[in-house]
Order: sequence, then structure tokens, then C-alpha cells
Amino acid sequence: MAKAKTMFFCQNCGAQSSKWLGRCPSCGEWNTYVEEVIQREDHNHLHRSSFVKDTPRKPHAITDIAIDREQRADLHNAELNRVLGGGLVPGSLILIGGEPGIGKSTLMLQVALTCTDKKILYITGEESEQQTRMRADRVGINNDQCFILTETSVQMIMEHLDAMNPDIVIIDSIQTLYTDTIDSSAGSISQIRECAAEFQRYSKLSQTPVFLIGHITKDGTLAGPKILEHMVDTVLNFEGDRNYGYRILRSVKNRFGSTSELGIYEMTDKGLREVSNPSEILISQRDEAVSGIAIAATVEGLRPMLIETQALVSSAAYGTPQRSSTGFDNRRLNMLLAVLEKRCGFRLGVKDIFLNIAGGLKVDDPAIDLAVVASILSSNEDIPISTKTCFAGEVGLSGEIRAISRVEQRILEAEKLGFERIYISQYNQKGIDSKKFDIEILPLKKMYDLFTSLFR
Ligand code: TYD
Ligand code: MG
Repeated sequence: MAKAKTMFFCQNCGAQSSKWLGRCPSCGEWNTYVEEVIQREDHNHLHRSSFVKDTPRKPHAITDIAIDREQRADLHNAELNRVLGGGLVPGSLILIGGEPGIGKSTLMLQVALTCTDKKILYITGEESEQQTRMRADRVGINNDQCFILTETSVQMIMEHLDAMNPDIVIIDSIQTLYTDTIDSSAGSISQIRECAAEFQRYSKLSQTPVFLIGHITKDGTLAGPKILEHMVDTVLNFEGDRNYGYRILRSVKNRFGSTSELGIYEMTDKGLREVSNPSEILISQRDEAVSGIAIAATVEGLRPMLIETQALVSSAAYGTPQRSSTGFDNRRLNMLLAVLEKRCGFRLGVKDIFLNIAGGLKVDDPAIDLAVVASILSSNEDIPISTKTCFAGEVGLSGEIRAISRVEQRILEAEKLGFERIYISQYNQKGIDSKKFDIEILPLKKMYDLFTSLFR
């Protein structure tokens, strides 16, 4: 028998080498090379399915190529349609990544069940038919056009696809599949790459959209990450804090739309609910103002959202003061505290400071700085901020309030939700026509101006 042919693959970035390496020359990670058997059979065997047969191609002038516009399919899920850039493009290959248990299977099964106008094949290598049926009952929708297949061999799946010719294919998950053409075990880098490549060929040649579900490892990368990211047309990340109900579907790469779109869901006992107006749930309902709370007018992706920041400042009883934040970068919190100390003279160095973004969301928008500072000051002074006030501004190292993007959008959203005044950077004021808004717009130049305006 011929000796099995093996290669070494970096489990982080997918780079390959004929010998073992301690440090990957392509991504710089240590100790990530693993030996995998790649013994390929001859290539004629590879494409058994009729879809996957290569037809001879010839070059066309770019101006002669016809585009079929508005062919996007409606998935009957407004948030997912939005993230995909306005619906599902025929022949697209979409990767949905997320940590285990975040709700990827639930989301895709719900999509499969609500699209009653399409024939959908949901292939699962993770759960049994009964389990999937139970989940469907829990979600409470029935669709006789949704078919479940429990199969992990790509060759068998291709035969089913040939026979059935579905409108949409969902694979749960790519890490459980294996192809006969490669000898290494399911879930290894070379298997994932080859399986994804076969579905890429299938989706392009049959013009059937394929969703691939992929698990993300603890540090936030897809297992076998980069190899999949460049092969697919769209990468969506499903994220959220498991202790809270909210889930965010973020587009990381999209060949057919913008990557700044984002969809919001809430996990309920009957599956995922679309959240079309996030601000209303992200601001806790309260009748009277409490100290330590400030509302930030943020923009996540392209969507304006009002988010509550909560701070607690108390005297440090023992030793080193604690600084802890959830949903906000701890280093950024330390930076804001240093600016408060140095530029405004607040002695926060001897205080414990806790910061929390309500709803378990992680916010990247720098415009949240101003609300964070306002909530810290409010807690420190023990003076509440009016529930009708919100903030949007970035804080610079010299204590200046810096201009932010999409300021009009934020003001509009704040006005729509019944806020009466919004603090913004003075440098943003030029660009906006304040006569257009009923809400009071208060410009700030320095961080100290915020303090005097709020508490003096
Ligand atoms: P799941 O879709 O299995 O996650 P993934 O495929 O990303 O691993 O979701 C699992 C979690 O969702 C599980 O902890 C239970 C919860 N869940 C609900 O809260 N309500 C529901 O209706 C369903 C179906 C799941
Ligand atoms: Mg799952």
C-alpha cells in the first residue's frame, strides 16, 4: 500500500507546510501546526454530482455581461434581509459564525420554517431529526417545504441535492462534515477547507444560496477561520452575551452589500424575536431620575440606538481601587478616568468605579465616551441626570469633546424617542441645521463644560 501523504496545517490561519513548524510564518502563532492526512484520490472522483461538473468557459467583454437586478430573495426575516444587504443573492455562499449556544441553529431553522414559498434543505450533522423537530415545535412554525437531512458526508449530501434541487441549502455545521477525497478527520483544517470548497462550487454552478454555520473558538475566531472567510461571499457573526437575551447579527464581510449593517434579535422561550426598535428595550424603564445613569446616542452599524450607561463610584475601602466595566473597553475607561483626573481635577484615583452598558451589549462606537463620563460624574456627585437628556461625543486626551460621525441621525433618533436635550461636540455643531430639530442641542468644547452644565 502506498504511504499516506500528509501535510502540516496551521490550525489558526490554514497555512500549510511539508514539515512541522514551531511558529507559523504566516500568522505568527506558536505551536499551531498539526499533521493531517491529505491523500487525495484522483480528481475525476471529486465531482460526482452533475452540478459540480466544470463546463468550458470563455472570456466575455465586461460590458456584454448582463446583470439581473432585484433577484434577491426575501427571507421573511427583516433583520437578516437587512444584514445581507436587502435579501438573499442567488448563488451566494454565506458563513454564519458564533460561539456554541448563541442561537445559530435556532436562527437558521426559523428562517427555514418561515420561508414557506421556497424549498429548503436543512442539513444537520449536530442534532438528530427528532431534536430538530422538537426545536421547530418550540419555535412554533410549520412548513412542509422545509426538509431535514441528517448527513455528514459531502458526497452523500451532493447526491441528495442533485435529486432534490432545493431553493436554499443550510449546513449545520461545516465543522461536522467530511469529504471522502481527504483522509483527515472531520473538523480539521483540510476537511473544512475542502468541504467548503465543494459547497462553493455547488452554489456557483447551481445558483443555489448556501448557508454554512461555523463554530467560533473561545478567542473569537472561527475554527479554521481565514480559509473560510476568503472563500465565502458573506461572513455574518452572531454575537451577544449569553446571560442577556439580546443577540446581534453583524456583517463582517459582504460581497453584495454593506458591512456596516446589523440585525438585532431577542432570544425568547419561543425562539428568536426580531427587534426592530432597539432603543426602547435598551433604556430601562424608570419614572424618576437616579444618579449614575446617562443615555448615549450611539450608532451601531448604520442604526442609531440609544443605550444606557450606568456607573457606580464609591470610596475604595481596601487597597487598590477597582475599575471594572462590562460592555465597554476597560482600557478606554481608564483613559477617560485619567483625563477626568488630569484635566478636570477630579480625585477619582481613590474610588472604586464600576461601569455597565445596559442589555449586555458591547459598544464600539467612540461617541459613547461622553455618556460614560456623564454617568461617572453623576454617580460621583450623587446628582441624577434628567431622564430627558442624552449624550453623543468622543473624549480626547486633552479633555476636548471631539466631533463624531452621523450626528444628525443620532439627534433625530433622540428626538423621536422623546428626549428633550442632547449634548454634542461644539465641532459637530457647524454641520447641522438646528432649526430642523425641536430637541435642544447643547454644544460642548471641553469636558469641564459638561460638568458645569450638568451639575452647577
Ligand atoms: P442553538 O441555536 O442551539 O445555538 P447554536 O446552534 O449557536 O449552538 O441555541 C441554543 C440556546 O438557545 C440554548 O441555550 C437554548 C436557547 N433557546 C431558547 O432560549 N429558546 C428557544 O426557543 C430555543 C430554540 C433555544
Ligand atoms: Mg447548533
